Amino acid sequence: MSNTEINLKSLIGDNTREEFLTLLKSRTPFVSHGNSESLKGLTSLPFLNSVEDLADCWRDTVDVFNPEVADEISKASIPPEDALHEYQYGSCILFNDVNRITPEFDRWNQDIRREIGFSELTYVRNLVYATPAGKGNAPHFDQNFNFVIQLEGTKKWWLADNTTINNPMTRHVIGHPVDSELGSYTAKDFPESFPKDCTEYILEPGSILFVPRGVWHMTEAVTDAVSFNFTFTPPTWIDLATTALREKLSHSEKWRESAIFDDSGADNTEFNQLLNGLSADAKNWNAEDFLEVTENQEIQ
Ligand SMILES: [Fe+2]
Repeated sequence: MSNTEINLKSLIGDNTREEFLTLLKSRTPFVSHGNSESLKGLTSLPFLNSVEDLADCWRDTVDVFNPEVADEISKASIPPEDALHEYQYGSCILFNDVNRITPEFDRWNQDIRREIGFSELTYVRNLVYATPAGKGNAPHFDQNFNFVIQLEGTKKWWLADNTTINNPMTRHVIGHPVDSELGSYTAKDFPESFPKDCTEYILEPGSILFVPRGVWHMTEAVTDAVSFNFTFTPPTWIDLATTALREKLSHSEKWRESAIFDDSGADNTEFNQLLNGLSADAKNWNAEDFLEVTENQEIQ
């Protein structure tokens, strides 16, 4: 069994872990071809043999993208046999949270998460996209990191640097309304079309593409194409700080009080006292105090 395990090494081609982390932190994509042997543990799973085999054992709905939008923001969730029919008639379909199929996936996901150094609060999942020839995804970026494994067929990807915003906390599709929080910390306007300065990648069975968080991408299948994603959405420092702070403050009866504004309104006396106490405490905080709340594992 050990030679068929999927781990970080299976996903990063010729890169060492350190080289991969440098790419990840600098938001640099990479592609690696000819990994069929090292991905055998994944690709030889019977239910990943074909879209039909996956649909056969799928006990949930499947997402079908609206061809006009070509993105998950406009989709219908329908039974697998209907989704297969839609796929055969030219619609992109998505099997969400494929990790529910076998515990092996969650074990691999968590091992890879730990190897990368992502927090225990990371949302990890696997997705299978089936894209008919000539179809693909509208230009967008995601807030997560993706390893795309091509299982079947040929698919073109175009990737471009995001010069509008670094470290976005939500995804954005070109030509669609901007999420209000994303808009609030993005000073520049988002482009109205895919950046011309982009790189084309052609994925074939055994290819792996690493798509870092925030990088613009769009796709088009050359032939009918099936891909398997390892998708990691790690918490930001904001998430870790606010999660741990909430846990710490919850031990205080005063902080747990229902917020009722006194006559001084925004200059609320009681809240000011709590904040003054918090800022005095904050001087003594360090990472360990916060991470002991969010991470159960031993901090190195
Ligand atoms: Fe995406």
